[in-house]
Amino acid sequence: MAPTEVTILPSRVESLASSETKAIPPKELAIFAPSSRVESLANNEIKAIPPKQVAIFAPSYRVESLASSGIQAIPEEYIRPEEERKSIFDVFEEEKKYDSGPQIPVIDLKGIDSEDKIVREKCMEELKKAAMEWGVMHIINHGISDDLINRLKAAGKAFFDLPIEEKEVYANDTASGKISGYGSKLANNASGQLEWEDYFFHLIFPEDKRDMSDWPKTPSDYIEVTSEYARRLRGLVTKVLTILSLGLGVEEGRLEKEVGGMEELLMQLKINYYPKCPQPELALGVEAHTDISALTFILHNMVPGLQVFYGGNWVTAKCVPDSIILHIGDTLEILSNGKYKSILHRGLVNKEKVRISWAVFCEPPKEKIVLKPLPVLVTDTEPALFTPRTFAQHIQQKLFKNGTQEAVLISKEV
Ligand SMILES: [Fe+2]
Repeated sequence: MAPTEVTILPSRVESLASSETKAIPPKELAIFAPSSRVESLANNEIKAIPPKQVAIFAPSYRVESLASSGIQAIPEEYIRPEEERKSIFDVFEEEKKYDSGPQIPVIDLKGIDSEDKIVREKCMEELKKAAMEWGVMHIINHGISDDLINRLKAAGKAFFDLPIEEKEVYANDTASGKISGYGSKLANNASGQLEWEDYFFHLIFPEDKRDMSDWPKTPSDYIEVTSEYARRLRGLVTKVLTILSLGLGVEEGRLEKEVGGMEELLMQLKINYYPKCPQPELALGVEAHTDISALTFILHNMVPGLQVFYGGNWVTAKCVPDSIILHIGDTLEILSNGKYKSILHRGLVNKEKVRISWAVFCEPPKEKIVLKPLPVLVTDTEPALFTPRTFAQHIQQKLFKNGTQEAVLISKEV
């Protein structure tokens, strides 16, 4: 093989085969495909890594494999455009740097069940204010036990600690519409841009809408603890929607009803796994986006990564012990006619620590509900900022804007 040749290895899925040449890495990089769904790939070329000038490129591979292969330079598809790179810095330094700057608010929910009306109202007011000013907050004293959260995290981590081959049993196939399961972003947009993460995605509530064949069988307590977390979190969802309804001056059950209620509101779990990245200043774990959901709840393993775009700057979220991060998503921004903000956010990676986060997206049903600003919030002086749309139409609109189907279909989180 001549030193400058490029070999395109067989793809795991047919649809990927066409994604090939856009993302050929620079010739000095050797790119591996250590993990494969296709036998031919698995039996192939790792043994025959060519001289380092020759790039071998498999259009789909796990970021975990790439990270553990020992590469010093990341493939071109993971390198952000130059303009974007100007704002990407070391996340540990960034986390310290903003000590004196604006910080994502911390909301203590302890007061919400107080018998003292003043305490209760103060708590509600603080959450409402955070939703209006930031659209994101750390919630402490949220009522879900540390023990359950620790078990949930241990179960998710145990799944990702499995060999890749065992995780591949649960692989998704976004090209054929199977979006639940183990996956990595595919280069299906014009730029071939990829993100430094693998993930596991599946529906966790309502229980009658779950497909248990999607759920990991290992570790053995995954189903039990994840189901329990889903039930507890569903209670918190109602609590938050109640506060946000009252904050808009409408009846307390209004937003809950507007997003589908106990029967129709879907809760989708996405466990994000961000391996160590040899060049974190060049990549993103998740590119900048707003969530399409009504609400998103995030846990993480206390490794920083989340940044939100506030006041014209990227603000790095601190790791607040025993907190759950709560995002307002596009759905509530629409219903509240822009009063509650769906903030732009992204995820950084680092070279020292694996980051794992557990995001639960609370989404209205795709077709059954038309989302539009609540009529009481639309006046002559405050006209509707959003046209009516179903959740599916909203997804389509974003898809059109962003040009990446997967980015929208599998709601992203950090
Ligand atoms: Fe997100």
